[in-house]
Amino acid sequence: MYNQKYHTADISKATFLVTGGAGFIGSNIVEYLLTHGVGKVRVLDNFSTGSMENIEPYLARPEFSLIEGDIRDLDTCRRAVDGVDYVLHQAALGSVPRSINDPITSNEVNVSGFLNMLVAARDAGVKRMVYAASSSTYGDHPGLPKVEDKIGNPLSPYAVTKYVNELYASVFSRTYDFHTIGLRYFNVFGPRQNPRGPYAAVIPLFIQSALNHEAPFINGDGETSRDFTFVENAVQANIKAALAPVNTHEVVNIAVGDKTTLNELWKHITDFIGIDLAPRYREERKGDVRHSLANVSKAEQLIGYKPVVTIQTGLQTTVEWYKQSSYLKVTS
Ligand SMILES: NC(=O)c1ccc[n+]([C@@H]2O[C@H](COP(=O)([O-])OP(=O)(O)OC[C@H]3O[C@@H](n4cnc5c(N)ncnc54)[C@H](O)[C@@H]3O)[C@@H](O)[C@H]2O)c1
Repeated sequence: MYNQKYHTADISKATFLVTGGAGFIGSNIVEYLLTHGVGKVRVLDNFSTGSMENIEPYLARPEFSLIEGDIRDLDTCRRAVDGVDYVLHQAALGSVPRSINDPITSNEVNVSGFLNMLVAARDAGVKRMVYAASSSTYGDHPGLPKVEDKIGNPLSPYAVTKYVNELYASVFSRTYDFHTIGLRYFNVFGPRQNPRGPYAAVIPLFIQSALNHEAPFINGDGETSRDFTFVENAVQANIKAALAPVNTHEVVNIAVGDKTTLNELWKHITDFIGIDLAPRYREERKGDVRHSLANVSKAEQLIGYKPVVTIQTGLQTTVEWYKQSSYLKVTS
């Protein structure tokens, strides 16, 4: 998938650590790096939500190595960053409902684990750490499109954890001169996103329903909208942020800058698959924001980010990918 090259610097002698590299976004970053001649790429993952299946194709590559371990353990983080130039920190427990059901574990992984990674990366003198922040940090701020310096109150424990990451990263920049870049992802989707379990995201669930000719549930009236972002755009952002000459802590929106309602999303997917089926509606979910749309100018100016894959192209690629893979339970 990663034919397009998004960087000009020579990475053939560089070592990257991708935490959460067995997960959805992390494994896509690994694929990009290996496609474009990285010196070494190391993954740190505890396989809590990621899977071996995601990194199976890379295990035999000499440039690839895996540490099976937990970011809640500082020594493991120190071992993982040893000799590393760039850290792309993706490991966290995602999902708003998961954090509402179990805020303690989300906090331990997303806040304490994050702090461990910051300390380990700072002490190891890595050139740059890029971390997965989240659009959930905008909380109840009504402004659209979202601009980085205007945030509201968080609406879930998950949103709190992601905002705390930004606060710690900012303090590390001012206190220790350790400068990182946070990428506020907006609803990322694409190949290898997990459709299983109670915390699956909407796009894999819709694709699974459509391939099974089953009407999906939509929480609310379907007019909730999101700036759905194909994973290749998020991968581009990680690479560019890692290599950009930025010497402050910065947080940037990573999205397309285009909004799609859930009703439109279901229509796109069913059109690609060639079926005509109405969704079922049920109560709205706690902690969800009504609309989400990003202004991506800051990322464009700061790191040269340019979203190249639209939602339509990304959806088509994703539908094709799920059709070929064993990821979905397709019954018809
Ligand atoms: N997917 C999105 O739309 C989205 C949006 C905003 C932010 N994010 C953030 O992006 C990052 C990646 O998300 P994703 O969608 O790829 O999720 P994912 O669940 O597929 O990937 C997360 C990875 O982290 C690993 N992990 C979890 N806890 C760990 C721990 N304690 N120690 C080591 N590894 C651990 C998991 O096993 C998994 O492989 C996360 O930080 C998430 O919060 C994602």
